[in-house]
Amino acid sequence: MDRRMQLNATLDSPFPTTDPILGLIGNTPMIRYPGDDAPNLFCKLETENPTRSMKDRIAMGILSEALSGDDPDARSVDTVVEASSGNTAGSIALVARRLGADCHVTCPETTSAHKIGYLRAYGATVHLCPSVGSDHPDHYRQTARRLAGEMDGAFLVDQYHNQSNPGVHARWTGPEIWAQAGPEMTHLVCAMGTGGIMSGTAHAVKQNAASAGTEVRTVGVDATQSNISTAFYDRDPVPYDTAVEGLGKGFELPTMWFDAIDEVRDVDDERAFRVARQSAQEHGFLVGPSAGAALAVGRDIARENPEARVVTIICDGGEQYFDTLFAPDAGASGTDDARETPAQAAAAGEA
Ligand SMILES: Cc1ncc(COP(=O)(O)O)c(C=O)c1O
Repeated sequence: MDRRMQLNATLDSPFPTTDPILGLIGNTPMIRYPGDDAPNLFCKLETENPTRSMKDRIAMGILSEALSGDDPDARSVDTVVEASSGNTAGSIALVARRLGADCHVTCPETTSAHKIGYLRAYGATVHLCPSVGSDHPDHYRQTARRLAGEMDGAFLVDQYHNQSNPGVHARWTGPEIWAQAGPEMTHLVCAMGTGGIMSGTAHAVKQNAASAGTEVRTVGVDATQSNISTAFYDRDPVPYDTAVEGLGKGFELPTMWFDAIDEVRDVDDERAFRVARQSAQEHGFLVGPSAGAALAVGRDIARENPEARVVTIICDGGEQYFDTLFAPDAGASGTDDARETPAQAAAAGEA
């Protein structure tokens, strides 16, 4: 079935390094989905990057260029600033440290103690900011901008506007996926937040497919209560209220390359969480909720069309969600309830 797929293929990184930790970023494995209900679904394991998410790639790509030069004393940039309460912060903290720069991260004060501890463990300075509207000067994104302006030699990553966010994935993640899945691939499915990983990989696989004379349909995944699909389909916005970390933002972003995306499908939070729990409990495949959402859509497409070869990107692992997704009181988290029942699958529109 997948005779032309080369799941073990590797590619040279566009951001070569001799650093033993940074050299672990990229060349992540692709595996067949471990459930037996969708043999034509494949998973790109971004969980195998050092901080267990795909954000290591943008940290590596953006910072190795911003901090280029071997001699730290001769650089114009020696401090990295970013606003993030999610995976990007950890990745930036790690990569900045390995490249010899200081790192300042601004987060909302509601960020969990676990996440703050994680950033401090990598040596980052964490600035907690009040939960105020995004145009308030004390909002965490505004604070990052102000800090970067005040500090000599500071570089603001700004994943929400930096075109290198999708650009790094277009140069790195997309070509890797193509090397592994090749011309047999028919669909790419990935969750969207800033849109960086979906936009960049979609752009690259579409280009490669065109050169090979094939086609790949690119399907972004959004949360029901977020506004990527509403923007994509030109519909009225909904109140932003998703619990799936990393998915959807309440605004349209320049890092969202909609022209590389054919379709956006919504998944509600309950289904994203249910599929992630099922994945861990039944298949030993510990993924985060955004990967649960992407797997739900990937499985739908794979089952709708057994001839398809669907690649889903697993953006992060489940380890950082033990207190939420996998908490004993987090709703349907018991083993029996964790399985997506036929009624639930039907209600969710599954084949
Ligand atoms: C777990 C997770 N999944 C998906 C995404 C979406 O990735 P992107 O911002 O590249 O669209 C993010 C982004 O923060 C994330 O942390």
